[in-house]
Amino acid sequence: MVPALVLWLAVCLSGTWAVDRGNFKTCDQSAFCKRQRALKPGQSPYRALLETMELTNTRLTLQLINDNNKVRLLLELYRLQGNMTRVKINELKPLKPRFEVPDVLIQEPPTEPLSLLSKDENGVVLSLGAESQRVIVSAQPFRLDIMEGHEVLMSLNSRGLLAFEHLRMRKDTFSYKVTSTVASVWDNIKWVFSSSQADPEAEKKEEADPANQAEEQTAKDDEEKVEDGMWEETFKSHSDSKPNGPSSISLDFSLPGVEHVYGIPEHADTLKLKTTDGGEPYRLYNLDVFQYELYNPMALYGAVPVMLAHNAQRTTGIFWLNAAETWVDISSNTAGKTVFGKMLDYVQGSSETPQTDVRWISESGIIDVFIMLGPTPYDVFSQYASLTGTQAFPPLAGLAYHQCRWNYNDQEDVQSVDVGFDQHDIPYDFIWLDIEHTDGKRYFTWDPHKFATPKDMLEALMVKKRKMVAIVDPHIKVDSNYKIHNEIRSRGFYVKNKDGGDYEGWCWPGNAGYPDFTNPEMRSWWASMFAYDQYEGSMKNLYTWNDMNEPSVFNGPEVTMHKDAMHGAWENRDVHNLYGFYVQMATAEGLIQRSGGVERPFVLTRAFFAGSQRYGAVWTGDNAAEWEHLKISIPMCLSLGLVGISLCGADVGGFFKTPSSELLVRWYQTGAYQPFFRAHAHLDTPRREPWLFGPENTALIREVVRQRYALLPYWYQLFHHAYHTGHPVMRPLWVEYPQDSATFAMDNQFLIGRDLLVHPVTEEGARGVTAYLPGKGEVWFDVHTFQKHNGAQNLYIPVTMSSIPVFQRGGSIIPRKVRVRRSSSCMENDPYTLYVALGPQRAAEGELYIDDSHTFNFEKKEFIHRRLSFANNILSSINLAPDAQYSTQSWIERILILGASKPSKVTLKTSDGQERQVEFEFDSSMSVLTLRKPGMNAGADWTVALQ
Ligand code: NOJ
Repeated sequence: MVPALVLWLAVCLSGTWAVDRGNFKTCDQSAFCKRQRALKPGQSPYRALLETMELTNTRLTLQLINDNNKVRLLLELYRLQGNMTRVKINELKPLKPRFEVPDVLIQEPPTEPLSLLSKDENGVVLSLGAESQRVIVSAQPFRLDIMEGHEVLMSLNSRGLLAFEHLRMRKDTFSYKVTSTVASVWDNIKWVFSSSQADPEAEKKEEADPANQAEEQTAKDDEEKVEDGMWEETFKSHSDSKPNGPSSISLDFSLPGVEHVYGIPEHADTLKLKTTDGGEPYRLYNLDVFQYELYNPMALYGAVPVMLAHNAQRTTGIFWLNAAETWVDISSNTAGKTVFGKMLDYVQGSSETPQTDVRWISESGIIDVFIMLGPTPYDVFSQYASLTGTQAFPPLAGLAYHQCRWNYNDQEDVQSVDVGFDQHDIPYDFIWLDIEHTDGKRYFTWDPHKFATPKDMLEALMVKKRKMVAIVDPHIKVDSNYKIHNEIRSRGFYVKNKDGGDYEGWCWPGNAGYPDFTNPEMRSWWASMFAYDQYEGSMKNLYTWNDMNEPSVFNGPEVTMHKDAMHGAWENRDVHNLYGFYVQMATAEGLIQRSGGVERPFVLTRAFFAGSQRYGAVWTGDNAAEWEHLKISIPMCLSLGLVGISLCGADVGGFFKTPSSELLVRWYQTGAYQPFFRAHAHLDTPRREPWLFGPENTALIREVVRQRYALLPYWYQLFHHAYHTGHPVMRPLWVEYPQDSATFAMDNQFLIGRDLLVHPVTEEGARGVTAYLPGKGEVWFDVHTFQKHNGAQNLYIPVTMSSIPVFQRGGSIIPRKVRVRRSSSCMENDPYTLYVALGPQRAAEGELYIDDSHTFNFEKKEFIHRRLSFANNILSSINLAPDAQYSTQSWIERILILGASKPSKVTLKTSDGQERQVEFEFDSSMSVLTLRKPGMNAGADWTVALQ
């Protein structure tokens, strides 16, 4: 048995819970972080050499010199379309190219013109497009200030923490610890970089300049100063050979007027990021953290280097495009000030504006930063989406309920769980198979005894319109009888160790190789393995789960890959945080290809990076059956949504340990209102299918799963929207109420789209919750009782075990499908019920989106998209996409108008000019008008008039 498994078992049996912090580095134990953090503000050695400035229509370049060591950097500045600015800083003449992250940006971002406003010996002022924005480049010390009017939006290097460790020759031996293979790879690719980066004429001139020679001599002197950890570093028993020596980078950003910053997932922490003064910085380094602890900045499985800053006037964002180990420090001049202190400042007229300062530190690569200038939260989402793409539009079934555990033991087990759902009248769409379904942890295979006839199993599910997900991890068993391994080895597709051999580490199968997913040839070969004739036993209702793709290496440093392992010409150090992104990319591509490009894939990943939203779903890894873990699922998914990854969920019930039935029910109630809704459990936990906790709890779980299914049309429409816009589906309240500071730190409740507010019960033994209903002058309707409440108030809601406080915004229309079925596919032609919640102006708006729910044909305009609107007592359905075509058998079965008054008659008019009266009922105690069987087709034009 592998060591980690032994550890897992030991902990599960002993019942203790704590991450082994000693397994993971603190900043002090990570040599570059320690070196960088030792630099204190205010001593920037960088000066802009204004005489080197070149300005074309869209690009400013300028050399920066480090006055301590005379090493020059090249700054590039671009104004990007959509109110963004890009700043790149690299060495002017690196000893060899430094890594620049490929494949994350969906295109070379389109630029806009830059123009020079003024220039003198102190600096340069450029105009940034039409928004009255300017960037001021100060020469000494170098800093950038981005201004709008008289307001500074953001400053770079204002605290003087720009630090760029230039590549250098090792002094003691003068030789890199690189293998001949690696060196020759470099020789081969060098020309690509040299031809694109260097101007030989200019280089000759510079070399001839005596001033430069003096500078370089000083620089060399500086290189003699070798600190511990620069050329070699040891952590526990692992040594990192660092053939390239120190190469880290750092830059600070000041955000005047900002007290709230968010993002940089993945951390098990609050939504509002905390200051890190005196503590550890937030770390971004994809790691398999066993038994992660809550409310701390330790790295987890995924990394998205994007931070959002918000105040009541503006939202901005910083996207630090770097895939190496990264640490983020946050400080604030208001941190630690009490509300009283802040009020005193106000009364005394203290002029200090709040300010947040952040500092990014990465181990290698270049500084490539996108400054997204909003001004609204939705502008920032769109700006980021224009860079890295939007959320993949999942098949509808992917938004339904998923039943998983480690493991469903064999085909009979799968069948009996499947039957159990029918017997207990609980819908589900996907049943999942974890690693034990394989033949000895050889992915793409089936255990010959327990899963001898996978196609029969899949066929049986298909008959019921249900699907399966099977796990495919990226560690490949080293076994000469295993086709996948043999192919990867013979094609040279494995990641290499520093000596040029195939890198091997321990994971579930024992000794394993790790395919180099950064290699596009490897990815396309991997994708081809999902073809039905390659992946034996697979069928079109089988989808994929990519786990352990940080990658997890049980016997590696910090349970991951050695940093000096080689992915082609690059070290794992450079590409580390991209590995999981590429695994999911290649897998999703495989699922698309196997269907000839027709079917939308569904792939769940544990590790991720910026841009992972394009490939599928993410979950928050190995949580525990504890109330605090239930709570943290909210900020964890909210943080992911803010950086584009909307399809997020946490293991319902908790992965480790055993939930009480109360916790399990509350977790179902919360998970049913989060985007990715999957129950999962560790191998050693007792079984926990929804019917194993007594009839009362079964009924509670049944009820909430049904609520999820009823709302699938709304979820689907929101994901369709997210696919087009990048807007988060699960949203913090401040996104919709950006001026309401009461919402800025709120992370115990959230919005689904604009129109549903959810405050799940996450306290043990709760008798009530206090929900904040935002929006002065707005109204909210309890979705269960239809009771109306005013906005901008804290509302105490008494709860029982069946309560899930959910409110629909007055002014919205939400479509539901309320008939109970086995799975979402069974509901395809079911009729809709429209929930029209009238706003204070007695008006409401909503949408209805329908397509075939699983193919890419919606991109060929095969869909229905309607605007539903209620105004002047008329409810109407208007075609939002007249050039699209799709027909549905679904019809409108019922319409509930919340906050209505009693009409004398209700008249339906259809597009063919026909008119007829509609039966209705009015509940005067709740002001709910119910229209019965109006009966029009969901894709048609119609109006319903209340008289
Ligand atoms: C770790 C994953 O996080 C967990 O969900 C899974 O069950 C185990 N690996 C086994 O595959």
